Amino acid sequence: MKSNLLHTIASLSLVTLSAADSPTNCLLASNSLGEYNACCSGQVEGISEIDGIQFEYFCDSWWDPQAPAPVNTASARECAQLCYWDGACTGSTWVSRNGHCYLTTSSEDLQKKSYPPYSEGYMALRQRIGLSPPESACAPWINAAVANETTECANRLKPIQDARDVLERENQAYNTSLRHIQKERDGLNEANRNLSTALSQLQRQTEVLNQTSQELNGTNLFYKKLLDGEIGMTSNWREWARCPGADGKEITVQGVTYRQFCNQRLYSPNGFPRDNVILGYEDCIASCNDLPWCRGINFWTKWTRACFRFDYEGTYPLPKNFSEQVIAITPV
Ligand SMILES: *[C@@H]1O[C@H](CO)[C@@H](O)[C@H](O)[C@H]1NC(C)=O
Ligand SMILES: *[C@@H]1O[C@H](CO)[C@@H](O)[C@H](O)[C@H]1NC(C)=O
Ligand SMILES: *[C@@H]1O[C@H](CO)[C@@H](O)[C@H](O)[C@H]1NC(C)=O
Ligand SMILES: *[C@@H]1O[C@H](CO)[C@@H](O)[C@H](O)[C@H]1NC(C)=O
Ligand SMILES: *[C@@H]1O[C@H](CO)[C@@H](O)[C@H](O)[C@H]1NC(C)=O
Ligand SMILES: *[C@@H]1O[C@H](CO)[C@@H](O)[C@H](O)[C@H]1NC(C)=O
Repeated sequence: MKSNLLHTIASLSLVTLSAADSPTNCLLASNSLGEYNACCSGQVEGISEIDGIQFEYFCDSWWDPQAPAPVNTASARECAQLCYWDGACTGSTWVSRNGHCYLTTSSEDLQKKSYPPYSEGYMALRQRIGLSPPESACAPWINAAVANETTECANRLKPIQDARDVLERENQAYNTSLRHIQKERDGLNEANRNLSTALSQLQRQTEVLNQTSQELNGTNLFYKKLLDGEIGMTSNWREWARCPGADGKEITVQGVTYRQFCNQRLYSPNGFPRDNVILGYEDCIASCNDLPWCRGINFWTKWTRACFRFDYEGTYPLPKNFSEQVIAITPV
């Protein structure tokens, strides 16, 4: 965007003087009698600054029309300033020989006149108009331009700010709905986790119920076979009443502790049980105490010779089989 203000500043900078126009500062009050020589030796005209105001001078010349009577001044500088301070004065002529200063107040265009040798030592002086105005003169104009640009800038900025506000509000609304969705998602995730937890609990309960059911079915079948006479009512069938209460529990007989496993039998990868004898439940266990080779017992409740004793190392209980009413017994 090419701003009017920039344009303004650019035109102001065009006012700068070229090198040939460079002001000398020959109009110095302290140099009063030497001023003519300082300003006019080697040149017929020039520019000199007094307190920031530029004056142009022409050597050996006077302004026509001229004032009828001179005022006395101490210097060309004073003569130039008197004219500058006098609102009606358009130019002044200074005579270096006697300090006479002629202030021309005519509204006619000034004519520069020269009549050597009569005009020798004269200096025609006037303010240099239109160039390098004092900064203070420009200030209101610059301020107006700045204010104008500020308004212009604000006008251009407004739709952008409005658009930004709309986006900001949309962003807020988006954030809000995003937060709601995230909250819902978190809630669903939690509900999902709760459901999985509940599901695995149900699965565990189902497994337990399934196992209990199989166990009861097996036991039921066992008693049914007993009643039907398919199995003899041996001296040990009542021992099955220990299960499932005894399952996984320890039992201590004559100071030695064993663990019991319902519906599980011992298995030895090296061979069969060493023997089987007619003994009651606790007598069977007590017999294992007394035998140095005894590694464990299968107590089969449906047999009279219920007590099966193992002598192999590495003998272990197989997984549960609810069709088998056997109790595995191993030393702890
Ligand atoms: C102010 O702006 C208007 C339009 O942009 C322009 O026409 C006018 O010259 C400007 N005034 C100043 C003082 O810059
Ligand atoms: C929207 O959320 C983002 C990321 O959390 C944040 O940086 C931004 O400041 C938020 N905006 C608003 C308008 O709340
Ligand atoms: C998930 O379970 C916890 C603890 O049982 C409960 O406090 C919470 O309300 C449940 N969450 C959902 C979403 O059901
Ligand atoms: C019970 O468990 C057995 C063995 O683990 C399985 O084969 C059977 O399908 C299960 N039954 C039910 C109703 O879960
Ligand atoms: C237990 O027996 C009943 C009736 O015979 C049968 O319906 C059920 O499936 C059996 N349960 C298992 C776990 O085998
Ligand atoms: C469970 O025991 C019965 C009777 O001894 C047998 O027929 C069946 O094969 C056994 N089941 C398993 C899985 O070992």
